[in-house]
Amino acid sequence: MSRTPLITGNWKMHKTLAATRTLVAELDTAIDGVAGVDAAVAPPFTALETAVSALQGKSIAVGAQNMNEAEEGAFTGEISPVMLTDVGVSFVILGHSERRAIFGEDDELVGRKVRSALAHDLQPYLCCGETREQREANETIAVVRRQLQAGLDGIDAHRAAGIVVAYEPVWAIGTGLTATPEQAQAVHADIRALLAELFGGSTAAAMRIQYGGSVKPGNAAELMSQPDIDGALVGGASLDADSFAGIVRAVGS
Ligand code: 13P
Repeated sequence: MSRTPLITGNWKMHKTLAATRTLVAELDTAIDGVAGVDAAVAPPFTALETAVSALQGKSIAVGAQNMNEAEEGAFTGEISPVMLTDVGVSFVILGHSERRAIFGEDDELVGRKVRSALAHDLQPYLCCGETREQREANETIAVVRRQLQAGLDGIDAHRAAGIVVAYEPVWAIGTGLTATPEQAQAVHADIRALLAELFGGSTAAAMRIQYGGSVKPGNAAELMSQPDIDGALVGGASLDADSFAGIVRAVGS
């Protein structure tokens, strides 16, 4: 089963409207004509409409970095799936380690968000990953399995096929430390085995599993050459058009 690699820029809490316009225009030019790879960006909520309208008719997908699972209500400061589809985004990142660690999101909440996103035709990216302490205690697989089992609870194989799983070891995020291709591949293979247990082999073979954590133009090709690494969720290096395009070009043809 061949899976088209997917490179997604998670801008986190960066970029004003003017900076968004500049970055998406530069990106569109920089990756024009690159084949064999899908590209996507996740700007902050305030810049979503700007990014969607600037990329209308282009091949770069636009998504959000989080959402509330409810459609509407008295949830001050939250954004609903209805609002996201209204603005025209196609995917949403859920359960990022920063949401879990800084904002207290637990596995069950992330699962509710994944089910809500699917119910609203938003493609979920389900993030998972272990801390340094968990890796050192040999808990990586147990942690990732627990996060994914709860995050994918109640979902059938048909709907699961469209979900992107993002494996982001917490110790590699924003630290300049990257998992080696072999370390990442080992976890990705375990994730795909879990997906096969949950959804069957053919659905598991179709699902894309991204790696995230200090991905740069210089290490992207080697990571993506691993059999179960199907793209990257890129933080810091996605904030600059040259470096993000460098990653997309390193993976595409
Ligand atoms: P960095 O690429 O900055 O390490 O961030 C990774 C990440 O958290 C993407 O979601």
